[in-house]
Amino acid sequence: MHVVHGIAELRRALADGPRPAFVPTMGNLHEGHLALVRQARSRGLPVVASIFVNRLQFAPHEDFDRYPRTLARDADLLAGAGCDLAFAPDEREMYPQPQTYEVRPPAALADILEGAFRPGFFTGVCTVVMKLFQIVQPGVALFGKKDYQQLRVIEGMVRDFALPVEIVPGETVRADDGLALSSRNGYLSAAERTEALALRRQLQAVADAVRADRNGAAAAEQAAMQALRARGWQPDYVAVRRRSDLLAAEGDEPLVALAAARLGNTRLIDNLEI
Ligand code: PAF
Repeated sequence: MHVVHGIAELRRALADGPRPAFVPTMGNLHEGHLALVRQARSRGLPVVASIFVNRLQFAPHEDFDRYPRTLARDADLLAGAGCDLAFAPDEREMYPQPQTYEVRPPAALADILEGAFRPGFFTGVCTVVMKLFQIVQPGVALFGKKDYQQLRVIEGMVRDFALPVEIVPGETVRADDGLALSSRNGYLSAAERTEALALRRQLQAVADAVRADRNGAAAAEQAAMQALRARGWQPDYVAVRRRSDLLAAEGDEPLVALAAARLGNTRLIDNLEI
């Protein structure tokens, strides 16, 4: 596997081949990313992964500076998973001057849930993903369902701009005890790592309650928020939404329960399709 750092170098490497399958990442890779690479591989296309910690999607008080940069380890993991090319630009390559053009997703999708607590987050994500798509020119791009709202936002961007790329979702990969894998799990102390399972348990309780009674969603959301608070978490939201656009469900559409909560200094998100 080759690691390239420059846009021109990447374009040269991809010039004569078919449009690749693409897995964008911010590095510090775990099995969730590698599962996406293997899924990409199964498409029979060259596989490109990017590793770039995108400043645009971090608020000033967030963890941009301490976000782990582990390029050598990431490159080994990508090679082992069957990636052909890793694109690891530095900030000067991606943003040689301040990025003044942005891709701003619609408020109805991007200012709710994560967007309500991380203003500008999805603009940062869309802007870098649009730029990465222009650089890599993928035919297929894979995004994990762990970041459920991000997946919906990217699908909407591709649809609205008629981008010639198929967006393929990947299932959330969990540790044996059920914790959704995340680069931020590494911030957790041993005690917090054990406690972190409570988020999934609360989502499961919400999913069970809604399966038993679809009118019980609001009460189940509140009960989950209370239970998390009682255990020392600071929940941002626990919400049952329809899967298609993350708005409130009205009929019998397929649902998803989503949650974000802070445990100590670490903010975790998770979701369960109902
Ligand atoms: O999901 C992520 O890791 C990031 O949001 C992404 C899609 C790589 C854009 O920086």
